[in-house]
Amino acid sequence: MDISELIAARKTVFEDYLDRYLKDAQSGSEVFEAFAYSLRAGGKRIRPVLVMLAAEAAGGHEGDALPAGLAIEMIHTFSLIHDDLPALDDDELRRGLPTCHKKFGEAMAILAGDALIFQALSVILTSPYAMQVKLDLCTALADVCGTNGLVQGEYEDVMAEGIDLPLDRIEGIYTRKTSRLFELCMYAGARIAREDPESARSLAVFGSHLGRAFQAIDDILDVTSDRQTLGKSPGKDLAKSKATVVKVLGIDGARSWAQEATGRAVKVLDGIVAVRTEVLRELAFWMLGRVM
Ligand code: IPE
Ligand code: IPE
Ligand code: MG
Ligand code: MG
Ligand code: MG
Repeated sequence: MDISELIAARKTVFEDYLDRYLKDAQSGSEVFEAFAYSLRAGGKRIRPVLVMLAAEAAGGHEGDALPAGLAIEMIHTFSLIHDDLPALDDDELRRGLPTCHKKFGEAMAILAGDALIFQALSVILTSPYAMQVKLDLCTALADVCGTNGLVQGEYEDVMAEGIDLPLDRIEGIYTRKTSRLFELCMYAGARIAREDPESARSLAVFGSHLGRAFQAIDDILDVTSDRQTLGKSPGKDLAKSKATVVKVLGIDGARSWAQEATGRAVKVLDGIVAVRTEVLRELAFWMLGRVM
């Protein structure tokens, strides 16, 4: 099976699981309907796929990765709903549909995002994982999402609008707003598969480089792609003078930057002995292929 087929197959497994979850969790709450709208809208599902592939690479089963993958996709979806709000990126299109606040209003979008954070914790805490695994996953999730990660990164991203930052500062923003969640995907998959802190740590470092490459690729596509393909409005980063590697290096320079970050990710895999790394290596290059 080639890598794109393999990724598509995992995506289907995840989306079936998500559908079942949303059917079972129906609560009659309007906030539930709003976050279910954003969760169902689609997207690449790259984070849950990464959790599954990390689990498989570490000797586990893809099915065991599903609750953690769903929790991370919920956190990611919360971050998108809030990222699109007028006070942040002010976007009207997401995953090919009107953004949550365009559809349901701003108050609801804020609350739907809030609710997703707690639903994510609930998915992990009510899962069949062993108590220690639940604890480790929730601890890691809290760390990568708060003021050491996603929320801090989003704050820095908004504050950097219109300001010329050096590359190392932009890289720091990428790390916090995007790549720490990728780090969590790899850590979670490895942790679910077995009790081997060393492999989990190394895979997390791979995820960290991969996440920075992913954000650079998103920033390149913001310039080179179109509304139909992206399911979101392109050209927004330039319009808002966002701090991106594209702004500093231009498109070709940003491609090289993404290529180097991917190279660093793959190099980490070379140093891991106790994990089957081949699929993860292919995935890293497949991701880069979106802009090459
Ligand atoms: C968009 O993430 C936000 C970034 C971190 C660049 P994705 O490109 O994974 O969005 P979806 O999940 O496919 O919609
Ligand atoms: C978003 O980065 C990162 C998040 C944590 C949501 P972007 O602002 O570039 O993501 P898009 O382009 O809106 O998906
Ligand atoms: Mg943003
Ligand atoms: Mg945005
Ligand atoms: Mg973007």
